Amino acid sequence: MQRILIDTDPGVDDAFAILLAMRSPELQIEAITTVCGNVPVAQATQNLLTTLGVLDLDEFPVIAEGEAEPLVKPLVLATHVHGDDGLGNTNQLQNTDNSPLYPPANTSIVSASGVDLILEMVTRYPDELTIIALGPLTNIATAIRKDAKKMQRVQKIVLMGGAFETYGNVTTTAEFNIFVDPHAAHEVFQFDVPIHIVPLDATHQVILTGERLRAEIDKREGKVSQFLRDATQACMEFYREEVGFWGFHIHDALPIGTLTRPDYFESVRAHVQVETEGTLTSGMTVADLRPERQHPNPNAYVCIKVAVEVFLDYFFDRLQ
Ligand code: RIB
Ligand code: CA
Repeated sequence: MQRILIDTDPGVDDAFAILLAMRSPELQIEAITTVCGNVPVAQATQNLLTTLGVLDLDEFPVIAEGEAEPLVKPLVLATHVHGDDGLGNTNQLQNTDNSPLYPPANTSIVSASGVDLILEMVTRYPDELTIIALGPLTNIATAIRKDAKKMQRVQKIVLMGGAFETYGNVTTTAEFNIFVDPHAAHEVFQFDVPIHIVPLDATHQVILTGERLRAEIDKREGKVSQFLRDATQACMEFYREEVGFWGFHIHDALPIGTLTRPDYFESVRAHVQVETEGTLTSGMTVADLRPERQHPNPNAYVCIKVAVEVFLDYFFDRLQ
């Protein structure tokens, strides 16, 4: 059993990752913190509660709301990808009696800040807690700034972010999570805990086509399948218009998979740096991944390969 804290900016793919993690007996989700990114942090918190509400649960992880602004840069959103509410506009869907089709989970958030909840969980589970970061790294960097000594007891940080030998998805060179807060990413990558990066180089290998999604949903009944269908329309429209196929990338589900199905993933050690000031390259992650160029001072593991078909089979098997 792996103790984890998920830091997230739901986001449709975040929601898929959260559902997958909640359906993973290998993981003990001690807490979930929200962060600004795809949507403003208050909306991210609402979307987290909506996502958890899809599951028929009586108990939930501790939830706290995190930082509303990046460390230095102004906040950039991704509602053009994820829908106006960041969750495929599912918050607006109603039953025939006008009640919400996807009501929030019957739980509340704690008064502590997301940063303080991260520090509380690291203190409670020293050397045992894995932080899975699915959005900009603002909360993690702020926790390090607030109490670096405590944060050194984090077992490891597994994060979705960056692009090394592939194009970015915000600019030619930058992936969204790093682009939104490059200063936070720089501080996290320099920090002395094991860092596992799942970049676009890996997540772009896994394409969830509309056809596959339809085929899997048609096999199932239940709220989760209905949510998978309803939450994905907006981002698949974006992909059809802007990326050129009917489907989308389930970026954030992959970090979950690296913990529950590690043999589906291949990583290399590297020395990773982040451009924080470049006019054209702000948010660019830089590492020499050539196998013959082993850096004398690697600071991260970078996932470069995914066993795509078995991962997708596992993903849908868990999201029954
Ligand atoms: O670049 C993809 C990442 O940015 C994902 O985490 C997605 O949810 C957005 O946050
Ligand atoms: Ca995300």
